[in-house]
Amino acid sequence: MTEQKHTFADQKRKTVETAEFTEDGRYKRKIRSFVLRTGRLSEFQRNMMNENWADYGLDHQTEPFDFVKIYGNDNPVVLEIGFGMGKSLVEMAEQNPNKNYLGIEVHTPGVGACLAYAVEKGVKNLRVICHDATEILRDSITDGSLGGLQLFFPDPWHKAKHHKRRIVQPHFVETVVKKLAAGGFIHFATDWENYAEHMIEVLQSVQSAGGIRNISETNDYIPRPDFRPLTKFEARGHRLGHGVWDLYFIKN
Ligand SMILES: C[S@@+](CC[C@H](N)C(=O)[O-])C[C@H]1O[C@@H](n2cnc3c(N)ncnc32)[C@H](O)[C@@H]1O
Repeated sequence: MTEQKHTFADQKRKTVETAEFTEDGRYKRKIRSFVLRTGRLSEFQRNMMNENWADYGLDHQTEPFDFVKIYGNDNPVVLEIGFGMGKSLVEMAEQNPNKNYLGIEVHTPGVGACLAYAVEKGVKNLRVICHDATEILRDSITDGSLGGLQLFFPDPWHKAKHHKRRIVQPHFVETVVKKLAAGGFIHFATDWENYAEHMIEVLQSVQSAGGIRNISETNDYIPRPDFRPLTKFEARGHRLGHGVWDLYFIKN
């Protein structure tokens, strides 16, 4: 057991956040959209991460990723933030071989589970990153290089005092728009009405500056699209009797 503490997967668990310091060397506290849960990384998930990182894993870097080199083609790259256990992401990759998928998740058991499913399905057009997505967007993704951004059932941070932790904020959406190629999409889904309203508000404020447009016929939400597989959190929302709101914008 002691030896396993130092495997690649265990190190990743500890270094998923990048520490930042002020000029005088003090630790800078960031408002994060997640709390790292200490949920158990199973032996199986740990092995999956250790054995398959060379084929499926990418790490945070300060140079932009070279997607053509990474995927071996120039198909559009769809970025998914917070893929959870990754089942729906692997399904999308399997169903859309003409697209490349890049999933980001901070929860290591989810990363291990996603890799296991990707290996089982033999998908080649998928890479995963275990890191804070806001830092990956800022540091590792070239402007205009993404075909789409999907964010399904992000943590809603119910309490008003925690709303600042919601990942969907004007600065986040502005960054995403910069990273998209012309014609690229933003697809958000949530089962929390108050977060859906917040998403619309933020997207509309960015839209009013030009750059993106809402494809909704009613200028708010779209009907649940068939191409979005059921996610674990969506299924949980159904069990709790929640509704689902999908938002879909295109970069001009
Ligand atoms: C409520 S879960 C939804 C998971 C999945 N999309 C689903 O629908 O089943 C939200 C996930 O986003 C991840 N997450 C939150 N903030 C993140 C960030 N800044 N970077 C990467 N992952 C993040 C969390 O670890 C969590 O697994």
